[in-house]
Amino acid sequence: MTKPTATPATYVDDYLGELGPDDADITSHDVYSAGVPHATFARLRTEDPVHWTDEADGSGFWSILRYDDCLNVSRDYDTFSSAAGIRLEEMSSEETEARRTMMELDPPDHTRYRRLVSKGFTRRTVESYEEAIRELAIEVVERALQKDAFDFVHDIAEELPMRMLGRLLGTDDEDGRKLVAWGDALLGNTDPDFTDFPVDLTDTEAFRMVPFRSPASIQIFQYAQEQADKRRGCPGHDVISQLLEPTTDGTPLSDLEFNNFFTLLVAAGNDTTRYTMTHGIWTMLNHPHLWKAWQNDPSLTDTAVEEILRTSSVTMHFRRTATRDVELRGKQIKAGDKVVVWFNSANHDDEAFENPWRFDLGRERNDHMAFGRNGPHLCLGAWLARMEVRLVFQELMKRVDHFEPDGEPSYLRSNFIAGIKHLPVRVVRPGTMKPGTMKESN
Ligand code: HEM
Repeated sequence: MTKPTATPATYVDDYLGELGPDDADITSHDVYSAGVPHATFARLRTEDPVHWTDEADGSGFWSILRYDDCLNVSRDYDTFSSAAGIRLEEMSSEETEARRTMMELDPPDHTRYRRLVSKGFTRRTVESYEEAIRELAIEVVERALQKDAFDFVHDIAEELPMRMLGRLLGTDDEDGRKLVAWGDALLGNTDPDFTDFPVDLTDTEAFRMVPFRSPASIQIFQYAQEQADKRRGCPGHDVISQLLEPTTDGTPLSDLEFNNFFTLLVAAGNDTTRYTMTHGIWTMLNHPHLWKAWQNDPSLTDTAVEEILRTSSVTMHFRRTATRDVELRGKQIKAGDKVVVWFNSANHDDEAFENPWRFDLGRERNDHMAFGRNGPHLCLGAWLARMEVRLVFQELMKRVDHFEPDGEPSYLRSNFIAGIKHLPVRVVRPGTMKPGTMKESN
């Protein structure tokens, strides 16, 4: 056990009201429309940390719920492979092949693809973009703050990741909204607000060979090819140009591989960062003394961002498939079984985090798994996402006394991504607070 890290003025320990039911069906997309059922994950983590769930339309799966087990499964890609798919969805081998990206590959094949773009996302490279990202953040924040009340998601959280990803990819700013709508349709492929073809509510058979079984993938493929055509013969310094270069074995990606890779970046690079920022603001709305403590002590910024990442755990799970029979905590996992690593559960494991339900702005030891950890698939965009979250909070804190809620949040219908779709907020500007109106907790 680590020693408690928080100072009383900076922590929150009243998450308990927000934990949801303890007997939820963790596979049901509808359940998550009311928020993540943390209490269910907490119960399973204690009672049955390697838990089997039957599926009506699938083979069933193991849930890995403890931090250490999630770490070991992520690390041991020989035993827990990504090659047969990384979502709960059952796919034929033909579908898996058609939709394969580097996420559905194990080393050494995975490494060949990842190396194509990894240089563009290292900590050092991302740090070199800091001023550019800050400028974008200032522009986005100042535009939103022209209004006294707005949807935080639409006006701030959605804007920055989309525009930054566009800069990295080398696409035109005016294409940003289109890319966001497509990205939403992919990661929100179970939410009727984001697609006319939610996978479990409509017939998506016609799209089974494209990523996320989503018609948006067909539009993205077309756009990706147009972007590739523009760069063939006159490459730029952008990520799309890097994707067109030969891989380490000397051959370039096929059109299908390129399209799938581009689609992966659009899907992964937009919504996750947006939802993380929004979860952070939602926490601050519920616990305004956190905002104040952070505003008064900017040295908390790095640890505060990590705590937002841990507590929001936007990408809730990825799946692996066992390649051999293996025993885990006394459970017999058979070769071919689906094994789901629940990052959100790992991040609230009391064996890994002292008082996991406490939001601690200064948490010292925070080896969270929001981006995965120790495995080959560790999030490519982790440094970019961290920087975007940090800059948005820094620029907001300079301009806003604090935010107040202006309505209820609405949650994404998805067992995969913990998203807040809308978050109405009201701005309280510096100097407009009446003395004594800010509730001090703790
Ligand atoms: C806060 C925001 C984000 C979160 C929570 C997040 C989370 C994750 C997680 C959990 C994984 C899988 C890790 C594993 O299986 O071990 C992952 C992989 C990935 N992420 Fe992120 N991500 C975020 C932002 C981004 C951004 C901005 C990009 C930019 C393009 C990105 C691109 C990717 C890619 C390409 C992969 C696959 C890596 C591979 O297979 O080698 N992510 N992310």
